[in-house]
Amino acid sequence: MKLDRLIASHQSMGRQAAHHAIAARRVRVDGVWVTDGHQPVDRFNLVQLDDAVIQPAERALYLMLHKPVGILSATKDDQHPTVVDLIDDPDKHTLHIAGRLDRSTSGLVLLTNDGRWSKRLMAAEEKVPKVYLVETLDPIAPDAVAAFAHGFYFHTEDITTLPAELVILDERHARLTLHEGRYHQVKRMFHRVSNRVINLHRESIGPLALPADLPPGAWRALTPQEVVAASGNG
Ligand code: URA
Repeated sequence: MKLDRLIASHQSMGRQAAHHAIAARRVRVDGVWVTDGHQPVDRFNLVQLDDAVIQPAERALYLMLHKPVGILSATKDDQHPTVVDLIDDPDKHTLHIAGRLDRSTSGLVLLTNDGRWSKRLMAAEEKVPKVYLVETLDPIAPDAVAAFAHGFYFHTEDITTLPAELVILDERHARLTLHEGRYHQVKRMFHRVSNRVINLHRESIGPLALPADLPPGAWRALTPQEVVAASGNG
């Protein structure tokens, strides 16, 4: 929302009075006087008119979590523990997940209450590489590398998967980089080369890698630099 609209809606002040108040330097955003009514504000900004608080600032949360196997990528569930159940924060009920993992998959999950941030992250999805460590039931055939790079047609969605980089680490382990996130994508891709994923772990999303000192079940806040880097909005 633009600042002038927020001020105008305060006690039905109206657009004109709002513009006058802004021009008269009566309005502050996060403590800084603002004279441009077009300045975008969201619910994370503190907005004041003279000394009155028009809008208190909500806390923006940006978290990374090491999802263990068996935990649901959901905010609430009656049967299974969810990633949000693992988080100890008074505002955790405001969180949503930016990029889910299957219950049987472990690794990096990002959570936030900033819808604009997660939307930017998802919009940039085709550019944001997601790296997975894969263990398979059967040996990985060397020609799988070319098949993953070429892409697979998924009938259900009527799409062909974007070129993916498969690096075979040993007979039954590989590192796979995807530039999109389709439903059960990794498992479906391996199924197409007549194999089965038995362990799947997400190591990174774009510039954010799961740190070695964040054990399964643990989480931490992203640093301000990580928040900016992840959504490509430097
Ligand atoms: N692909 C899958 O099959 N599962 C996941 O959890 C993530 C990617």
